Order: sequence, then C-alpha cells, then structure tokens
Amino acid sequence: MPKITFITSDAKPYKIDVQNGLTVMEGAIQNDVPGIDADCGGGMACATCHVYVNEVWIDKLPAKEDGEEDMLDMAFEPKSNSRLSCQITISDELDGLIVNIPLKQA
Ligand code: FES
Repeated sequence: MPKITFITSDAKPYKIDVQNGLTVMEGAIQNDVPGIDADCGGGMACATCHVYVNEVWIDKLPAKEDGEEDMLDMAFEPKSNSRLSCQITISDELDGLIVNIPLKQA
C-alpha cells in the first residue's frame, strides 16, 4: 500500500498507508491526520483539504482541473505547489508522497 507522509505546520510527521484508489484527503481523514478537515467531502468546494506538495513530487501528480485552480485561489496562502488533497488519487506511483499542511489549518 502506498505510504503518504503528512507534515503538520508544527513539523510533526504522520506517515500513513493509503489504499490505491482513495484520495490523499480520504487517507488523512481515515487516519485522523490533524489539519485536513475536508468540510465539503471532496466536492472541490471548501479548500480545507489544501496541502503543499513536496517539490520532488509536484510534477508527478496529474494536472489540476480548472475548478481546483479556482478553489486554490481562495485558499489561505496558496503557493505554486498547492493542491487540494481531495483531488489527488493514490496509486503505486505516489508511494512516498510528502505533503505539508498549511499553518492556517493547524
Ligand atoms: S475536501 Fe473540500 S475542496 Fe477538498
């Protein structure tokens, strides 16, 4: 099962196993990772699943859809490596993915 590491804004790592086919957000929710609230349940309508993807991984992810880009524009302090974790589906290729959780979501 792919391992995903979430790093909270206070630098605490949460290394979790996420089943293929689930999203990064779903993995966080199932494992009680703090800072990923996912208020809209993955509907791309809240940005409470916002993460910063480690630079090593950013080009390995599928491109953002327009709706994701629009929602990220409304997120707190979006950066070039911002993604909505509900829009990243886990596969073996993402084994080892590292994402940081924004300070605002602490
Ligand atoms: S869970 Fe709401 S935008 Fe991702």
